[in-house]
Amino acid sequence: MDKFVINGGARLRGEVTVSGAKNAALPILAATLLTEGPTKLRDVPNLADVRAMLDLLGDLGCRTSRDEAGVITAEVTETANSHAVYDRVRKMRASICVLGPLLARRGEVRVSMPGGCAIGPRPIDLHLRGLRALGAEISLDSGDVVARAQRLKGTTIFLGGPFGSTVLGTANVMMAAALAEGVTVIESAACEPEIQDLADYLNACGANISGAGSPRVTIEGVETLTGQAHTVIPDRIEAGTFILAGAITNGDITVANARVDHLLAVTDKLHEVGVQVETAGEGLAVGTDRFLRPVDVTTQPYPGFPTDLQAQLMALLCLAEGNSAITEKIFPDRFLHLAELLRMGANIRKEGPVAIVTGAGELIGAPVMASDLRASAALVLAGLVARGTTEVRRVYHIDRGYEEIETKLNPLGADITRTTE
Ligand code: EPU
Repeated sequence: MDKFVINGGARLRGEVTVSGAKNAALPILAATLLTEGPTKLRDVPNLADVRAMLDLLGDLGCRTSRDEAGVITAEVTETANSHAVYDRVRKMRASICVLGPLLARRGEVRVSMPGGCAIGPRPIDLHLRGLRALGAEISLDSGDVVARAQRLKGTTIFLGGPFGSTVLGTANVMMAAALAEGVTVIESAACEPEIQDLADYLNACGANISGAGSPRVTIEGVETLTGQAHTVIPDRIEAGTFILAGAITNGDITVANARVDHLLAVTDKLHEVGVQVETAGEGLAVGTDRFLRPVDVTTQPYPGFPTDLQAQLMALLCLAEGNSAITEKIFPDRFLHLAELLRMGANIRKEGPVAIVTGAGELIGAPVMASDLRASAALVLAGLVARGTTEVRRVYHIDRGYEEIETKLNPLGADITRTTE
């Protein structure tokens, strides 16, 4: 198992480039199951989760390859197997994205029911509610969700749940409705840019989807979809992580290939903390006042502050003088990084879904354990600023969502070494 050894203290300087978005690429790859002919996808990041999705597509009869320029070609060549097995789904929850496309295209699908994960329970009741509304018959058999339908029929579906909208639930229903008969309206749809990117890909393939990126998405079903070329949007969470890396090290960096319009809640909150993020050409320039102010922040569905940057912001707020309150409204149990930050000298108290961070002025290097993707990113950020050496164990978590983060941060002056335990 790999670990990172991080010598803290360097102020990051220079330019770092953001890759394509993992959370846009995964549903778009699943959507190729809806299409005929080849799809060519640019800017798909080379990550463990993407490789897991390519393996799953291979099981399901979709042949994929990556050329030297990193372009992925995907084409369905066989339709005999429509079973996403437990061993695939347990490795990557986004495997659930094949449910809608296979149901719509093949009329029958079996997907192992995903379990919870380190960030808490991850139900799929809203995905199933949406597909049932389109006319699917759904049952549970030996831990698999089994869905069947002759041809799905468009209808109006309210997709909000106890924690608001659902990103992959919206993706699943939108993909299924693209080939349904008639018009589907999804109310309380997720507004994330990744949903808009999926709709852009599907529309290029011949779908008729409007309103994606807003809470009401209208899908007029079509008979067939034909694979097309598409470029995946930049990863706003990777961009946010780099911005926070610049901020936490009191650095002076440019984050290239970042979409400022996808990061407004983040840049707005950082201004309050005392971090300047300004548009600079195709990217963003980050600088700090050095005096970091405490803030209150609540994670929310897009366009609110993303849960996927909550842990990384917490690392920064460990240095802000005074009390900050971080309320997690999407995954109330997503606080495993808290105990690890305490090992580095942080002062954080958790009360239900709220973490009160009292800025301790500095962090001190320590051996820590990564528990999930974004928590591990937070520990890397903490290691960059900590006095002494930090060892982050189980970095396979970070490799799921960041393309070799150490080779991106080291040219900026970071001192991160990957070693095998
Ligand atoms: N929820 C339900 N029922 C459902 C689905 C979701 O109650 O059927 C609840 C969840 O438990 C949660 C909330 O609704 O409380 C939102 O979950 P959502 O369905 O939006 O999450 P997701 O689609 O499974 C995606 C990202 C996550 C990101 C969340 C929230 C992908 C592959 N995953 O998950 O990304 O945290 O949206 O923005 O797109 C990550 O990249 O590290 C990551 C975890």
